[in-house]
Amino acid sequence: MHPYGLYLPTRLVFGENAIERLPELTKGFGKKVLIVTGGGSARRNGILGRARELLRDREIFELSGVEPNPRITTIRKGVEICKKEGIEWLLPIGGGSVIDSAKAIAAGAFYEGDAWDLVLDSSKIKKALPILVVLTNAAAGSEYDDSGVISCLETHEKLPFGSPLLAPAASVMDPAYTCTVPAKHTAAGAADIFSHTLEQYLVADGSILTDAMCEGMLRTVIECTRRVLKNPNDLDARGQLMMASSFGCCGLLSIGRTPSPWPCHAIEHELSAWHDITHGEGLAVITPHWMRWSLTEKTAPRLAQYGVRVFGLDPKAPAMENAGKAIEKTSGFFRSIGMPAALSELGVTDEHFEAMADHAVLHRPLLSTAFRPLDRGGILAILRASL
Ligand code: NZQ
Ligand code: ZN
Repeated sequence: MHPYGLYLPTRLVFGENAIERLPELTKGFGKKVLIVTGGGSARRNGILGRARELLRDREIFELSGVEPNPRITTIRKGVEICKKEGIEWLLPIGGGSVIDSAKAIAAGAFYEGDAWDLVLDSSKIKKALPILVVLTNAAAGSEYDDSGVISCLETHEKLPFGSPLLAPAASVMDPAYTCTVPAKHTAAGAADIFSHTLEQYLVADGSILTDAMCEGMLRTVIECTRRVLKNPNDLDARGQLMMASSFGCCGLLSIGRTPSPWPCHAIEHELSAWHDITHGEGLAVITPHWMRWSLTEKTAPRLAQYGVRVFGLDPKAPAMENAGKAIEKTSGFFRSIGMPAALSELGVTDEHFEAMADHAVLHRPLLSTAFRPLDRGGILAILRASL
């Protein structure tokens, strides 16, 4: 069994009206809070208003307008507010983009130079403001991990950063908040959770316990995504997806196995950096093509195990046959929830593929440890097949 370490310091507070615990959860955090929100959903559905009421004894500052694929330019504005006003803690209300931005701001508040330095080199993160998350979208898992992903449009880069200092102190999760997420982002969030699980599952070796957790996650995401797309107010299914969001990206699903270099995420982040596409949609296109490219005599048994345990394929059929079927079932699932099947549907052309492959290889040296070792040629092959 592969050695592992796991440190999950964030308190999860899940349930109806969980936001009411905001004052108690942030008691020692100080008076000055910066609330971080996205393009307006938190205001429209009343969460921002309720948070402001609950925190009426604090001095509240606000940074709104965080973009999906959050930009370093917006983070710089947040850092400036923190430094100028002496902000003591951060309250992101939103999905992955808002939470990731709060993490970058939390670290930037204590950094002398430009916040982008911290994305390029996380070892420069020495201190961070405390963060309390109010989650409104089941997807990225940023509410329960210590990393984020930030974009710089000028240089066409979207890069991950992280530090144990950035794990939120607590994440408040009321599944009712996610009922207003539009169908496209609900499905994209589900595709993201599905991908997080598969990326950690499809590696060279297995682990009895965490393989079973991954398989359960994948079956849950398939069932509950179908349910919420049919009935957006299905609170039980929304809650299951919210739980899956948190456990998909926190590291739990990878323990006992070779750690994954997250190849589909590496490629998707390049696509988002150049074309500003929705993360989950990019993953839904890339994942089946990556699986096809990764299918060899050596990898077939694991793909077949996935097909048998997640999609109920015949365990007696040959591994290569089941592996092929499992890949088709995967792309079928993504299509069934309204995700695109080709990059051209997202307006992507092959113009920047070479630059994307160069950048991915430069910034993700561990891709050579992927399920099937991935190099520049492999990335280009997957991108071209995905077009
Ligand atoms: O901006 P607002 O108005 O809030 O609208 C958002 C946005 O348009 C909307 N939304 C969120 N909650 C809503 C809602 N609309 C109505 N009602 C609600 N309750 O949904 C849209 C997408 O939001 P966003 O935060 O961008 O989506 P998601 O949660 O999928 O996060 C995606 C970002 O997370 C990064 C991705 O790369 C991407 O930038 N990731 C972060 C990770 C991490 N921190 O560990 C790992 C992931 O793999 C991922 O890379
Ligand atoms: Zn993701």
